This record gives sequence, structure tokens and C-alpha cells, in this order.
Amino acid sequence: MNDKIKPPLTQFIATTTSWFRHAAPYIHSHRGATFVISVDGETIASNNFDNLINDLALLNSLGVRLVIVYGARHQIEQQCHQNNIPVQYHQDLRVTDDDSLKVAKTIIGQIRLEIEAKLSFSLPHTPMADAQIRCSSGNFVTAQPVGIIEGVDLCHTGQVRRIDTKAIEQQLDLGNIVLLPPLGYSPTGEIFNLSAEAIATACASQLKANKLIFIGDAHSELPKEMTVVQAEDALMDIELTNSHTLQAAVDACEAGVKRVHLLDREQDDALLQELFSRDGAGILISAMAFETTRIATINDIGGILDLIQPLEQSGVLVKRAREELELHIENFVVMERDGTILACAALHPYHEHKVGELACVAVSSDYRGSRRGEQLLTAIQHQAINLKLTELYVLTTQATHWFLEQGFVAAEISDLPVEKRTLYNYQRNANVLMKSLL
Ligand SMILES: CC(C)(COP(=O)(O)OP(=O)(O)OC[C@H]1O[C@@H](n2cnc3c(N)ncnc32)[C@H](O)[C@@H]1OP(=O)(O)O)[C@@H](O)C(=O)NCCC(=O)NCCS
Repeated sequence: MNDKIKPPLTQFIATTTSWFRHAAPYIHSHRGATFVISVDGETIASNNFDNLINDLALLNSLGVRLVIVYGARHQIEQQCHQNNIPVQYHQDLRVTDDDSLKVAKTIIGQIRLEIEAKLSFSLPHTPMADAQIRCSSGNFVTAQPVGIIEGVDLCHTGQVRRIDTKAIEQQLDLGNIVLLPPLGYSPTGEIFNLSAEAIATACASQLKANKLIFIGDAHSELPKEMTVVQAEDALMDIELTNSHTLQAAVDACEAGVKRVHLLDREQDDALLQELFSRDGAGILISAMAFETTRIATINDIGGILDLIQPLEQSGVLVKRAREELELHIENFVVMERDGTILACAALHPYHEHKVGELACVAVSSDYRGSRRGEQLLTAIQHQAINLKLTELYVLTTQATHWFLEQGFVAAEISDLPVEKRTLYNYQRNANVLMKSLL
């Protein structure tokens, strides 16, 4: 049936089914993962907050281990203004005097109750029907005073001293959502007001969380994906509306968190889009440099030679002259990371036989064992299929088992295209392996 004439319900079901199928790999990979999600005070005050709560409940149901750190800066400032309490900042940190601490304790307590109430909502005919979310909060953050900076006493403003990761892990193991307020307690029994971003960052790095997600201001001035180095440059170069979260993201990456996401509080579906779609919805700051897999160009020859020459010298790969590489460079696929070639493979097609030779498969020794070889092979297979080839073969002396595990099967020299058969090097005695692409 043509899509245009499909009744709306059928179309809706088809779209939902397709969405679910595309989301399946993400659902599998997020199960059991730990996400620390920092939600600022303005997000809590926004109209989208109820939807966000539903989405957090859904993540919990899907087996994601969730730590939610909430901020209250916006609400505390509002209340201080209402009570005529001066709001004073020094070096971007609030000076929390006795009066502001009183306000902070009340507001932070209220917000916690509201979040707990929202997470308890489970009426039928709502997205949270039967959700049964349990959430837990406690003295998980030990704080110490920031102290006096440039002569200004920040009073009850604190910084993270320790996170009780063991206690948090125990709650997560029970399937509970851990809710952390922007407060910490000192061993002397005092309460300190902390930034939610700082707690989230410390928590994510100490818990070795898979992701740290900040929900707050939009950063439309930033690219969708950045390495930590690019994020550091952006902090210096770009006029940011709010650089707290980007700075926290950089700090988190430097403290070992692999992926930090910045999401716009105004975008209703940002969290689910970011986690369950390939393109995401926010800004991803990655501790690792980004890698690309692409067709090689003549500029890659130096990098490819650096990669394969040691393997040629040890006899693992057949020697190739530079001219030969130059002539067939468009047959090569390379994986590049920050200008360095990490891996390469070549596909030499024999169009009339609909067969391709896979050759020169190499992953830099520092990067082996992380499925890059497998990814490279997938890229080559896509290319072979695009070229309408139906079979791949490879000659190998030392990686037979690796190719067998990639779906190749043993073949005979007589199975090779005649042009290749006549060139077969009997002294090298390589195994012949084939893989059908049909
Ligand atoms: C073979 C090669 C491309 C695999 O790349 P890779 O990125 O390390 O591979 P993957 O991460 O996808 O797979 C790793 C798995 O393959 C196994 N493996 C790696 N090289 C292997 C080999 N030569 N023989 C058998 N198994 C091998 C690893 O032990 C690992 O197994 P595990 O998953 O049980 O731990 C890489 O080892 C390499 O460059 N080798 C030297 C060059 C070479 O032999 N090329 C083939 C010539 S045609």
C-alpha cells in the first residue's frame, strides 16, 4: 500500500515499529549502564519537566542505572530576591551567607519532595502507569568549604570532597534512582551549598559512569560533536551564554568520563533522541578523539606506509611498492583519528567474475582488539556490495582464524579468479579464504 494512502493509525504503527527497531541496539547497550544526569533549576521550573520525569522513569524501566543531580540556583535566587536577601557572587560562585543557606535548604528540600512526588506518579492512562519507581537520596556527598577567595568569604558555599560511591552503587544495584541535591555535608556536621554541575562531574567520574548528561541551556553556537580539546578551545574563543556546563563537561572528560552530552531544556524529546537515535539531539563532548572510516586519498599514502611497512618487514603482509599504492589508492579504506591512519584495508575488484580481493588488512598494533578490524571489514563489504560483487576472497598467512571468525571459509587456489591464480606465490603458501556477500 502506498504510504500516502495508508490510514493514519497504520502509518503511526509503522513509524513506531520502525523507530523501535532502530532504537533496539541502543536499548541493548544502555541496559545496565550508569548515567549521571544533571538537571538545572530552570529545567525543573520549565513546562517540559513533567515529560522529562516520564523519560527518566522510562530509562529506569529499561535497566539504566540513574543518578539524578538537581540544581536550584534559579529558585534560590528568586526566593532570595523575594525575601530581600542580597544575592552575591564571587568568581561565579554564590556567597552563601546564613540567610541564603536557610533559603537554599528550604528550596532544595522542596524540590526534592516535588521530584520524588512526580516519580511516584503512576496513575493508569499516563506514561508512568505501573512504573513503581523507587528513588533514594542521602548523605552521599561529603563537602568542604570553598573558603575565602581574594578576601571574600564564600561562607556556606562548598566543594565536593568525597562521593560515597559504594552507597550509591548499592542503591543502583537495587534498581533505585539516586537523587542528589546540590548540598553536601562536612565531617564537622555542617551543610554546604554546592553546584549541581560539580557534584554531577565528580559523581560521574568516580562512579565511572558511561555517560554524564547536562540538561539546561541550549548551546546553538557549538558544533554537535566536539572532542575535549575542541571544547577547551570553544571555552576560550566563543562568547557563551553559559559556560558552566561546557566547563563541567571538559572537567568531566579530563576526569575520565568518556561521553558528556549537553541537552537543551526547551527541546521536549531531547533526552530520548540523544540516547536512542544515531544523530542525537544535543552536543556530545567526547574524551576520545573522533575517528572516521573513509576511502583513502593520495595524501594518506605516508600514513598507510607507516602502518604496513613493519608488517611487510615481518612477512605478515606482502611487500607493496609505493607506486602500486598510488595507482590503487582509491581501492583503500582507512580509519583515521586526528590525522593518523590507524587501520587500512584494500578491495581490488574483478568485475567480470563479480569477485573482490580483500588485501592489506592492517590495524595499528596500539589499536588492535577493539573491533576496528571488524568495522573495517564491514566498510569493505558495503563497498563490495555497492560494486555488485558477490564474493570476497583473501590470502593470508597469519590471520586465518581471524577471517574464519569474520565469516570466511576455506577455499582452494583453483577458486581464485584466473588472473590471480597465475600470480599465486607458492613459496608464501598463503591460505585462501572466501566469503559470500549474497
Ligand atoms: C587481524 C587484524 C586486522 C585484526 O584487527 P583487530 O582490530 O585487532 O580485530 P578485532 O578487534 O576486530 O578482533 C579481535 C579479535 O581477533 C583476534 N585476533 C586478532 N588477530 C588475530 C589473528 N591474527 N588470528 C586469530 N585471531 C586474531 C583477537 O585475539 C581478538 O579476539 P577476542 O575478541 O577473542 O579477544 C589485526 O590483528 C592486524 O592488523 N594484524 C596484523 C596484520 C594481518 O595479519 N592482517 C591480515 C593479513 S591479510
